[in-house]
Amino acid sequence: MTAKIRILPSGREFHTGPHETLLEGALRAGISIPYSCNSGVCGECKARLVSGHLAPGCVPDYQFSAAEKAANYFLACRACTLEDLEIEVHEAGGAEDMPLQRIETRVVKIEQLHPDVMVVHLRTPRSQSLRFLAGQHATLEIPGLPPRNKSIASCPCNAINLQFHIRRAPGDPFAEYCFSALKANQTVMLTGPSGHFAFDDDAKEEVIFLAYDTGFAPIKSLIEHAISLEYAQPIHLYWVASRAGDHYLENLCRSWLDALDNFSFTPLLDEGAGSSPFSDTEIGQLLGAQRIVVDHPDLSHCRIYMTGPEHAVPETRALLLEHGLPDAQLHIDSFLRY
Ligand code: FES
Repeated sequence: MTAKIRILPSGREFHTGPHETLLEGALRAGISIPYSCNSGVCGECKARLVSGHLAPGCVPDYQFSAAEKAANYFLACRACTLEDLEIEVHEAGGAEDMPLQRIETRVVKIEQLHPDVMVVHLRTPRSQSLRFLAGQHATLEIPGLPPRNKSIASCPCNAINLQFHIRRAPGDPFAEYCFSALKANQTVMLTGPSGHFAFDDDAKEEVIFLAYDTGFAPIKSLIEHAISLEYAQPIHLYWVASRAGDHYLENLCRSWLDALDNFSFTPLLDEGAGSSPFSDTEIGQLLGAQRIVVDHPDLSHCRIYMTGPEHAVPETRALLLEHGLPDAQLHIDSFLRY
């Protein structure tokens, strides 16, 4: 049996199971409400009960003021319910609502998916999970190495288990270390989140994602967030790889294709990579955009999320705007970190 929770003032709704806290239910549904300790201590997840009843639970350490008690404030990380509720709580409106956090994480798994790409799985302490928006990034620090800013490749609906995609690159000591020396259970200090590349939860347009090689990492986070939101509009993924076999999570994309009626996946190969005076990424970005405008000649009703290095952006952007894409509906993550 699940209970339906309606959030005011937005009117967004989510469901919770009998043993699930309201915070867990909201995060699973892709709704970002404030929290920090996840254990009833900090008071960050304060919300106000507008109608309905909470299940009796343990008394949290956090002390409400008399005024807060009188106004029916409660802690979303401690509260469960068996009945439908209306609550009032502040939802994150954008990256500016995400506090900068510094967390000691542990490596739980290192997964080499491709000769040059590995996925590093980090876990935060239960009482200090990372609050972030899909598409944002974080800085990773390993003693003795320069810190690296990397896109978070996992969904904010799981704020404890985080994923990062690392591409082997000559002369990159951080990547070399990850491939040769990083071990399970090792400590990695994480600072974040940062960046404004984030899904617009209120948008109603058809969504197109364009990724190049490991620029797939933030796109994966965005797609998983869209899935948790049950985004109803069509979702198209174009993933350009520089070499055959470089779609290192193609099986995951195909599983989305099987599971979602509104999802399409177009893997593309940058045949010209390495054979042109332009960089591979510059050609790949444009190749992806050229295919998009063939499939969607009128982009006025679309919203596009695109990853790629800064120098590849102007020509690609110009092509998309020529086909009617409003500038405000183009989101670019152009940080040079792939
Ligand atoms: Fe700290 Fe709920 S998140 S009290």
